[in-house]
Amino acid sequence: MDAAPADIVARKRAVRGEARARLEALSGPQIQRKSKNLTKQLLTTSWWSQGEWVFIYIPMFGEVDTRYIVAQAYREQKEVAIPRMEGPDLAFYFYDGRTENLLPNQFGILEPDPTWKLIDPTVPTGKRLLVLTPGLAFDRSRRRLGRGKGFYDRFLDGLRTAHPQGSASWAVGLAFDEQLVNVVPVSDHDELLDGIVTDREVIS
Ligand SMILES: Nc1ncnc2c1ncn2[C@@H]1O[C@H](COP(=O)(O)OP(=O)(O)OP(=O)(O)O)[C@@H](O)[C@H]1O
Ligand SMILES: [Mg+2]
Repeated sequence: MDAAPADIVARKRAVRGEARARLEALSGPQIQRKSKNLTKQLLTTSWWSQGEWVFIYIPMFGEVDTRYIVAQAYREQKEVAIPRMEGPDLAFYFYDGRTENLLPNQFGILEPDPTWKLIDPTVPTGKRLLVLTPGLAFDRSRRRLGRGKGFYDRFLDGLRTAHPQGSASWAVGLAFDEQLVNVVPVSDHDELLDGIVTDREVIS
């Protein structure tokens, strides 16, 4: 584990605060309209057309609503997996799309039941993986800032060790346009994304 220099930690905190304030200003209807527009943008990408297994999160309020993406994945016969926090790690389970079967964790985030089928993305299957990540802020150099626990950095680190980047696995951030900032401060452990999709554009 690297010790992030104190100034990076402070700069991350400041960017998180600004991003949270802009997200809090979005209304529920705006979030839904933007999430639908983002889904349209995502569907134009080769990441989407090539991805066979879609790793996606269940949103908290204020995050891009992923339900439209999940519905489209089923229409295209893609497999969908959603995360569960397990100690310091994210574990993904195959998801059938029924939200009533999800269980809230200690933060109120809906998660899969651990009796579901676990999928270890580091084990080669021949399937092309598309990991769609949440985040608080992103920049045009494909840097990502999350909520500060490092879950996606650790997950992507493990994934990329198993699948060299650009070879059939992609990590793409989902963001509202309001979450794009000039520069996301990063440390060595922060994983760069392969792309970012917003409600207005695709960044690659
Ligand atoms: N690959 C890694 N190995 C070990 N520790 C890590 C790794 N990635 C991140 N961490 C730990 O997680 C802490 C928080 O990381 P960071 O501030 O980048 O979180 P984040 O990217 O905003 O959060 P998240 O990925 O959960 O959305 C880091 O200070 C570091 O201690
Ligand atoms: Mg990080």
